Amino acid sequence: MRNLDEQTVTQAVLDLLAGTPDPRLKFILTSLITHLHDFARDVKLTEAELRAGISFLTQTGQKCDDKRQEFILLSDVLGLSMLTVAMNNRKPRGCTESTVFGPFHVEGAPEYANGADIANGAIGEPCLVRGTVKDLHGAPIAGAELEVWQADATGNYDVQYPNLETHQGRGVLRSQADGSFEFRTVVAVAYPIPADGPVGDLLRATARHPWRPAHLHFMIKAKNYQTLVTHVFRNGDQYLDSDAVFGVRQTLVADWVKQPEGGYTLNYDFVLNPVG
Ligand code: BEZ
Ligand code: FE
Repeated sequence: MRNLDEQTVTQAVLDLLAGTPDPRLKFILTSLITHLHDFARDVKLTEAELRAGISFLTQTGQKCDDKRQEFILLSDVLGLSMLTVAMNNRKPRGCTESTVFGPFHVEGAPEYANGADIANGAIGEPCLVRGTVKDLHGAPIAGAELEVWQADATGNYDVQYPNLETHQGRGVLRSQADGSFEFRTVVAVAYPIPADGPVGDLLRATARHPWRPAHLHFMIKAKNYQTLVTHVFRNGDQYLDSDAVFGVRQTLVADWVKQPEGGYTLNYDFVLNPVG
């Protein structure tokens, strides 16, 4: 393994994968190295550019802590998250579509009774959210676990407030015997994804905006059904066609309806895909 040149170095690296015991890891690394080397040759990568790339990834890692996940953001703005969601969530027509998970889900969200107010003090206009969880034949799915999370009227999630010691705008509920659920919260608004780190620098360098259209996040789990990770997006939002993370699907867009007595209502019915 001497005198490798810009062509032969690729095969030399691939040869060293021969002993990788895990076949999937071997397959993935083989493809990664092949594409990475082809990419470097394609763009005629300079040494300064390689250093800049390494510096960018270093800053991305350094921006991460228990509340900030810059690598998820990077994957999201590059469209890699949505590509992976799309490939792994092909479903029969009629099932609720999946979309990106995002970086603002946290473990240990509080459990609420059906009808409860999950805002828990979050700033915003009141909103009543109602819907059902059903199967493809319209049969109710009782006892499904619905986890909801959303930003407040300032466009921030609870975890983005450094000194907030409670959960706001997130909670876990269960569907009723007829598949229905309801909860109170605040109206979702459009917000910019965090742009004070290397991902923000990347967006600015490419003249892209950081905005996401207003949405509610849902993760719905039920026995014998595939877990659904999705959003409901607010109809009329100016960013529906330019979501910074490519997550919008037309079937997930719904109306937040202003009520004469004040506040808003949102109705949305979910359809789960059975396992297998
Ligand atoms: C979110 O919707 O919470 C989100 C998704 C991707 C990147 C940033 C935020
Ligand atoms: Fe979000």
